[in-house]
Amino acid sequence: MSAKPISAQEREQLLSSARDALTRSYARYSNFRVGAAVLTDQGEIFTGCNVENASYGLTNCAERSAIFTAVQETKAARLSIRAVAVVTANDVPCSPCGACRQVIFEFGENATVIFKGQQGYQEMSIADLLPESFRLS
Ligand code: THU
Repeated sequence: MSAKPISAQEREQLLSSARDALTRSYARYSNFRVGAAVLTDQGEIFTGCNVENASYGLTNCAERSAIFTAVQETKAARLSIRAVAVVTANDVPCSPCGACRQVIFEFGENATVIFKGQQGYQEMSIADLLPESFRLS
């Protein structure tokens, strides 16, 4: 099933929301500040930032912070993700890590991911970013 394309306005709104979230980043160990914004099928936007810890492995990425907030706060019975945008403080390239790709897929098999690649901001489907994603059948 193909996704409904993200309009230029939706894309700018998502990137701007992700940039707002970035200001809350807690990245005292890596100093790599990340913000993310999730667009739901209902048109809601939820944001998140990365949250690090002195025990490094406990770090939560911005994408998962945003998604976990969306699970809790969406007005829908169940979260359905249409798009996720990711931004960094220095506007450097950053695509979602493998763990976040699996979590995006869980709530949006047709989700569009907006991130900065080597050639600037780009869109990719989660299916292309995570082939053979895991599903309990
Ligand atoms: N990070 C994210 O928040 N999202 C990504 O897509 C990649 C990595 C965070 C985790 C950690 O706080 C910092 O960036 C460096 O890895």
